[in-house]
Amino acid sequence: MLMRRLHTITILAAASLSGLAGAVQAAEIESTLARGGRLYDNWSKELKTTRPEEPHPAYTGKAPKNSWRCTACHGWDYSGDKGAGVKGITGAKGKPEASIVAILRDKTHGYGPDKLSDKDANDLAMFVSKGQIDMSKYVDPTTNLSKGNPAKGEIYYNTLCGVCHGPDGKKVSTGMALGQAADYPAAMLHKALNGQPAEAMPMLRAFDHGISADIVAYTKSLPK
Ligand code: HEC
Ligand code: HEC
Repeated sequence: MLMRRLHTITILAAASLSGLAGAVQAAEIESTLARGGRLYDNWSKELKTTRPEEPHPAYTGKAPKNSWRCTACHGWDYSGDKGAGVKGITGAKGKPEASIVAILRDKTHGYGPDKLSDKDANDLAMFVSKGQIDMSKYVDPTTNLSKGNPAKGEIYYNTLCGVCHGPDGKKVSTGMALGQAADYPAAMLHKALNGQPAEAMPMLRAFDHGISADIVAYTKSLPK
């Protein structure tokens, strides 16, 4: 009887330990995906290195200031930047990370270890393979508006984002007020989920992504 009870306790303990291990592993994956997302946004900023001076050789047409950002060619909705005329990365969803790292290291891309370390390239590949969301679920591609609920978004914004960005969205911004950034809802959603490169901004990807879409919908009403 005692033996059986001990046995049960052992099994329960093992089960809860392995449950915990699973949760810890999932947490590690989410933060890796978020880091990969910030590298996708702007890898040289996230890594605090200087970006290459010259335009990316694969950029066709007049290159923007930083044509080495993944977003410059592949877009914030991952389906390809229209100006760059490049296809998106949605076709690489679910691909083995090693094959994505090989693409980054290839001649077209030219991201050698001087630019992205093996860890950086792996985190980026993790994001490309497992971290992309279906943007059209949250941002209407025809109206370019968030499909979220702005009334709910106001509550989330005031208790989460407003702490840093201020109630009007103008408090921290060397660049754009959030009311202006709201004109690029896919970019804001990407940043809300993965954080802002090299900044201590929260990353909401472990929560229901609808929460981030609600916040993005609300920011549309903030002053520009
Ligand atoms: C200057 C433009 C440019 C930039 C910047 C760029 N790419 Fe690409 N990428 C391309 C082109 C062009 C292709 C398609 C040609 C090819 O397959 O070689 C491509 C293809 C890909 C593919 C394969 C997509 C598929 O459907 O199989 C992945 C994945 C990818 N890029 C990831 C990235 C990542 C991650 C970054 C940022 C580190 C990045 N790219 C930066 C131009 C770019
Ligand atoms: C801990 C402080 C902090 C919190 C909380 C925070 N942010 Fe940020 N955020 C920053 C900083 C710092 C920057 C960088 C500002 C800059 O470079 O102009 C930034 C930048 C941004 C940008 C880019 C603006 C641009 O010019 O492109 C967006 C979009 C953004 N935040 C959205 C949000 C949203 C949405 C939330 C709530 C989910 C949020 N932030 C919460 C600190 C924070």
